[in-house]
Amino acid sequence: MSPLENSFGSTEVTPAERQSRIRSVFTAVAPRYDLMNDLMSFGIHRLWKRDMASAIATPGGGLAVDLAGGTGDVARLLARDPRRQVWVCDPSVAMMRAGRSRENVGDDKIGWIGGEAEALPFADATLDLITISFGMRNATKPELALREAWRVLKPGGRFVCLEFSRPVFWLKPFYDLYSRLVIPRLGAAVAQQPDAYHYLIESIRRFPDQREFAAMISAAGFRDVVWRNLSFGIACLHSGVRP
Ligand SMILES: C[S@@+](CC[C@H](N)C(=O)[O-])C[C@H]1O[C@@H](n2cnc3c(N)ncnc32)[C@H](O)[C@@H]1O
Repeated sequence: MSPLENSFGSTEVTPAERQSRIRSVFTAVAPRYDLMNDLMSFGIHRLWKRDMASAIATPGGGLAVDLAGGTGDVARLLARDPRRQVWVCDPSVAMMRAGRSRENVGDDKIGWIGGEAEALPFADATLDLITISFGMRNATKPELALREAWRVLKPGGRFVCLEFSRPVFWLKPFYDLYSRLVIPRLGAAVAQQPDAYHYLIESIRRFPDQREFAAMISAAGFRDVVWRNLSFGIACLHSGVRP
């Protein structure tokens, strides 16, 4: 199957069409995105994000960008370190607007900027840390997104990715059932967007598994690439360092 014969149905679409459909998905779900995340994952996504933030140590703080930062969950965790300057970068104005409307404590320390992972609006070798949580599978060209992350990180800078992955074998049947039966229904009932949540499930299914994604990070030029399963592989934390 062609990689472009994608999550929006069986029709083959161009990368530009795919990109514009992903944009529409996030515009549509933005107002209810945070609520849906809590319902779908029973709030566990918050623990995963905390795990991600606590796994990150950037001595001296420095400049951190949360790519595909959406409503700003991860950026808020990163901004708890007062030495760190934090930006959310996301192509969806609707998602960023939904996040900013929550007016959380500490939001005044976060900058928000429009941009796609495949063409980052940052100069070469300027960032100390890049995070991306549940965003990499939306990149139409993940290899290019990884090369971009490498380009904008300083030597010694760290790339950290939290993404859905492949659960262990005994969990898979239950997980598949839950994904196919419960999530689209929740998407219909709560967000009134069943198609958007079909996209979510399909994009998870198509994303490379733990080992494949680690190999892609290495191929983009990162070293010290490691990964750790969260919740038996439902999600996975990958990281790498720009030499
Ligand atoms: C599932 S949300 C994740 C939001 C947030 N990081 C979180 O963990 O809650 C995916 C985000 O990816 C963004 N996105 C879609 N295409 C993208 C791209 N090509 N580059 C960067 N971000 C993208 C969407 O706008 C959306 O905000």
